[in-house]
Amino acid sequence: MKITAILLAAGQGTRMKSNLPKVLHPIAGKPMIWHALEAIKQSTTEKPIVVVGHGAGEVISYLGDSAETVLQEPQLGTGHAVMQAESLLKGKTDLIVVCYSDMPLLRGETLKKLVETQMNNKGPISMLTVIANDPRGFGRVIRKADGTVESVVEEYVATAEQLQVKELNVGGYCFEANWLWDALHRIPKNPKKGEYYLTDAVELASKAGLPVQATVMDDVEETIGINTRVHLSEVEAAMRRRINQHHMLNGVTMIDPNSAYIEIGVSIGKDTIVMPNTFIHGKTEIGEGNVLGPNTIIHDSKIGNHCKVLASVMESALLEDHVDIGPFARLRKGAHLGNHVHMGNFGEVKDSHLAEGVKMGHFSYIGNAQIGANTNIGAGTITCNYDGEKKHATEIGSDVFIGSDTMLVAPLKIGAGARTGAGAVVTKNVAEDTLVVGMPARAIRKLEKKKK
Ligand code: UD1
Ligand code: CA
Repeated sequence: MKITAILLAAGQGTRMKSNLPKVLHPIAGKPMIWHALEAIKQSTTEKPIVVVGHGAGEVISYLGDSAETVLQEPQLGTGHAVMQAESLLKGKTDLIVVCYSDMPLLRGETLKKLVETQMNNKGPISMLTVIANDPRGFGRVIRKADGTVESVVEEYVATAEQLQVKELNVGGYCFEANWLWDALHRIPKNPKKGEYYLTDAVELASKAGLPVQATVMDDVEETIGINTRVHLSEVEAAMRRRINQHHMLNGVTMIDPNSAYIEIGVSIGKDTIVMPNTFIHGKTEIGEGNVLGPNTIIHDSKIGNHCKVLASVMESALLEDHVDIGPFARLRKGAHLGNHVHMGNFGEVKDSHLAEGVKMGHFSYIGNAQIGANTNIGAGTITCNYDGEKKHATEIGSDVFIGSDTMLVAPLKIGAGARTGAGAVVTKNVAEDTLVVGMPARAIRKLEKKKK
């Protein structure tokens, strides 16, 4: 059986007041429409069709080849939107799932249930509904005496009695494809708004004596649709709860899950503790037994086991095991800290490898450098890696002692076991086990005493 989804994403989203198309606004690090497509994947067998209109260019370029797209221009309602997919899909699928792209909390399992309902339905439509006290402008679901659905009445045309109905149309449907294409052409133009409502297909079926079934959802949260940035923040919070629950159930401790901001796609091993105000973003993999945060940002990075990252920022960086950084460490792209590296406060590392056991306690900048095992980087050490035109490399051997405030003017090699004196400006390679010093301060003149 072929099951294909049509995702409606042509609407303007005026109330978002944004230059970005509504469906591209991120939730937990992924565009709204990504979430809809993920849910769809679990309930369909074919590539989905996305109906685009407002911001079509940007939406199409985001989608790439993850979906087929059709343009709806002008946008004459949800029924009209589905009709745009007819030429692509007619005769090619048995069932059609239709959903709206602004409901990112809708779960794949829910759509699966909907499809199952339709598979057991003799009629041509099954739809998702929810019982809720707050109608939020949703269409009301009117049932027949036999329990099947008779129609969906939009709020603005509903009678006082219909407005009392607590069962709402969520905006997810499964149709028998052949019936749908024919029915869409029979949907009347709505006299008030001049649009063609997909929901009118329900009445077409029920009037013809064909049963329309409803799958009643029990989680109201899943049905939140986004029309404004207030809704966006509500959905973000709900998604965060979901993500954090998933990690906690996998053995991650969160001191305050409301202040752990973890994007989709992040993996975290058990017995890792996520402290408050910690952001873990992008493609990040974290091992077991780490303590992350508080006040930490980790982006596109990899962390092994038993590391501590306190009040620090990491971006495209790699920590092996038992690494301890912060507070106020900054690891930039290509920073790679080996086992048992210690990096204290106010350090920055970029495009550099610090081998096992390197200690770099305070105020240093290390860029384009390779540092051998157990080397000590004194406070205020700087790799002068940029000459105004090009970046140059610094190579430091193992068991080196770099004295405080050393300037390492690259390109430069320092042999294993060497030492530099405090404040040294090193411009030439240093051989193994050699001590270099300079430039020492020397007396220039006697100062006059200040008059009182
Ligand atoms: C729709 C339902 C309503 C339901 C509610 C749930 C209809 C007529 N009504 O109302 O019963 O309770 O959703 O959220 O369907 N779109 C297009 N092209 C168009 C019009 C809309 O692609 O011409 C897309 C929008 O981008 C959006 C979706 O369809 O993703 C729903 O449209 P919207 O205008 O938000 O419908 P509602 O008024 O919310
Ligand atoms: Ca809507």
